[in-house]
Amino acid sequence: MNTNHDQRPGESRRRSGPGRLPWRLLAGAALGSLLLSGCRSNQSITLGDMASSYNREILGMSIWAIALSVIIFIAVSVALFYTVNKFREENHTEAPAQFHGNNRLEIILVVVPVIIVMFLSVLTVRSMARLNPTSKESVAVETLARQFWWNFAYPASAVQGGGVVTNGNEMLMPTGQKVAITLTSGDVIHGFWAPNIGGQRAAIPTVKKVWEVDTDRPGVYQGNCSQLCGASHANMRYKVVALEPERFTAVMEAARAYVAPTPAPGSAEARGYQLFMQGKPSTGAVSCAACHRVQGTPAGGVSGPDLSFFGTRRTLGAGMWEAMTAQHWEEPEAAAALHAWLKHSPVVKPGSLMPRYDGGSSVIAGKVTKGGTLTDAELDDIAAYLRSLRLPEEADYWRGSPVIGGQGVGQ
Ligand code: CUA
Repeated sequence: MNTNHDQRPGESRRRSGPGRLPWRLLAGAALGSLLLSGCRSNQSITLGDMASSYNREILGMSIWAIALSVIIFIAVSVALFYTVNKFREENHTEAPAQFHGNNRLEIILVVVPVIIVMFLSVLTVRSMARLNPTSKESVAVETLARQFWWNFAYPASAVQGGGVVTNGNEMLMPTGQKVAITLTSGDVIHGFWAPNIGGQRAAIPTVKKVWEVDTDRPGVYQGNCSQLCGASHANMRYKVVALEPERFTAVMEAARAYVAPTPAPGSAEARGYQLFMQGKPSTGAVSCAACHRVQGTPAGGVSGPDLSFFGTRRTLGAGMWEAMTAQHWEEPEAAAALHAWLKHSPVVKPGSLMPRYDGGSSVIAGKVTKGGTLTDAELDDIAAYLRSLRLPEEADYWRGSPVIGGQGVGQ
């Protein structure tokens, strides 16, 4: 800042400085406020989508905290520069007055920070009370985090054959309504984080956390695991699909009434169903039903994601692969991804606890486990069965849903 060209020869820096410093300070403050105001246009990145009242609440609190910080910064800077300028050594030849203690100053220096801290504490407690309610009207979603996937269950949507509507890695919620998320983990600590919906919470085994979120904007929101949880922490993603209330109700009704289709005898789906339910004992290939649930079938496993609506989903492997069209599973690239997934999921996704079906071994529950063997044709039969697990066309919750914070619309 102090360049030489505005200094006349023989004139010391110190003399040219004092008059200019306050202006530099003001310029700095102006630049700072410009930068701060620049954040507002990017708030969807920094504080999440403002269609969420959770994010609006956090923004309100942040504005207070930032405003107070700016005021304190400016006040301290002004006081500092004023003091340094006024009490320069060269302006005072005599020794400064010596005194000890200044009651008024000391009281001010204690009381003012206490007031500021108390004010911010009251704001924080108020926001916490608003964001952690337990209202009975809210839509309940029970969320279970596992290495490395998510299950979302709807306790209010009982299924006739037993259990409740459950979906793996794709959470549904209505717009304009409070949604109470109950979060827990089945193994290690994970983190639930869908920034544009609001709220980041740790998923801790044996602990249940409840908080409410909402959004006014229908669409597909990205969710991630925010707590380092193992080899595929980065492959532990999910989607939150927010639907208009009528559509949400219709989808949930369709999901409640859903019974997995019975494949036509002799079809690829029927062969896949057989393998899914019973595996292939002759080659050591264990059944899928031991770990996965499919609504309306005997498959009731809970150690893997619920596969009831697998064909309606647009994500595979907890967001490792995703598509935006309804015909996605038939596309060659998607079919290849699904085939590879079924063949050797631990190869595609490190740490996946699904057995390998290519005869290779992987570590499951700390033990090296040799998977069984299925032929490529058999894997394709299972894929055909999985593809057939679809909600009715009108209950395709992806259709027409815009991607929030990204590009594209589900088709
Ligand atoms: Cu689960 Cu990171």
